[in-house]
Amino acid sequence: MSDRIICPCKGLHGEIMIPGDKSISHRSIMLGALALGTTEITNFLEGADCLSTIGCFQSMGIQIDRTPEKIIVHGKGMHGLSAPKDILNVGNSGTTTRLMSGILSAQDFTSVMSGDASLNSRPMGRVITPLTQMGAHITSVNGDLCAPLKIEPGMLHGIDYTSPVASAQVKSAILLAGLYADGETSVTEPALSRNHTELMLKSFGADITSTVNPDGTATAHVKPCQELYGQSICVPGDISSAAYFIAAGLLTLDSELLVKNVGINKTRAGFLEVCRNMGADITLVNESLEGGEPRADILVRTSKLHGTTIEGALIPTLIDEIPMIAVMAACAEGTTIIKDAAELKVKETNRIDTTTEALRSMGADITPTDDGMIIQGGHALHGAKINSYLDHRIAMAFAIAALSADGDTIIHDSQCVDVSYPEFFEILDGCR
Ligand code: S3P
Repeated sequence: MSDRIICPCKGLHGEIMIPGDKSISHRSIMLGALALGTTEITNFLEGADCLSTIGCFQSMGIQIDRTPEKIIVHGKGMHGLSAPKDILNVGNSGTTTRLMSGILSAQDFTSVMSGDASLNSRPMGRVITPLTQMGAHITSVNGDLCAPLKIEPGMLHGIDYTSPVASAQVKSAILLAGLYADGETSVTEPALSRNHTELMLKSFGADITSTVNPDGTATAHVKPCQELYGQSICVPGDISSAAYFIAAGLLTLDSELLVKNVGINKTRAGFLEVCRNMGADITLVNESLEGGEPRADILVRTSKLHGTTIEGALIPTLIDEIPMIAVMAACAEGTTIIKDAAELKVKETNRIDTTTEALRSMGADITPTDDGMIIQGGHALHGAKINSYLDHRIAMAFAIAALSADGDTIIHDSQCVDVSYPEFFEILDGCR
């Protein structure tokens, strides 16, 4: 469909306002719908994924008003959703599908969720298994443990679940179902994944606690909940979107960018730690805290980067930024090793494969591994034709790579950036 040509450039300057966090935007609609009273959301991300969440809740009888300044969700309480007339269209959004599985498992009506080809091939067994243990009646319509998912009414029980993956989507599905269970629910994950659900549930009045255990695993506990209460939410900018402009400022010559309003929650900010470990000149300014979510502006200057190793508990804190980190590693001196990141295989594309293909086509030295990749930096990048495979993060990471390549680059199907950052190319043009 839409190809985008990106020419090399240097000297990026100015201020960039980062759009709202995708994870927090989804959760604000979901909790707003289940709460009593209205929830007002500012800086909501109007990306396709979050619009899928809005569409699903509207189909279940929730009034959601959209004005240029804010979104207003007219919540109907824990038991206020009504049966949708049609299949719920979850589009490209794994977050919508997995988090809603938890909510829908507790409803007294039957529902079906289905999405696009990418979404319908992503693994849903990871939520079907624990939710079924809780008493949910959830089936994969085609019997392949993928969407479409059919969810029929069930009585939910509290469980203590140990998840094999550090996944906020799995954790959140179980915690949301746990609100409706007949006893306390706990989820233990191998390392702490993003904790936006826990923070937001707490601010809406749920009884929820979470701890990082001495062995590095993390456990969240939630008690059954009578009601949640609507809140005002100001969504911080999405660090996953900010990462592209931080990388652009670091990689292009003679650049200085102020990337504004970035959420820097520790469970999401691994990208900043990696930048520092690679020798990046980044400074946090104007730090603040709102709704439990810390935020800051980030001043970025052109930097000479060097290789690093990224592994273990750091991985869930930067999982969506790995294509961008791989590009930075290709431009850095020395070797970068990324491991413990097998989750990359089940994102919108298999990002070990799509990152490897795109980086190789630009002339980089990258070796894919079973759980990550090894990149030998220091080879100049060439302009190339990049197949995004409709993966927004591949399209954006390689649009940034193109800025410091030695010829023009074409990004195929570049419109897929709409999933998380509709204004991406406009903003990129604006800071040249
Ligand atoms: C998300 C969690 C992550 C992330 C995704 C959004 C969320 O997925 O990759 O883009 O909002 O909970 P996993 O939790 O499955 O790793």
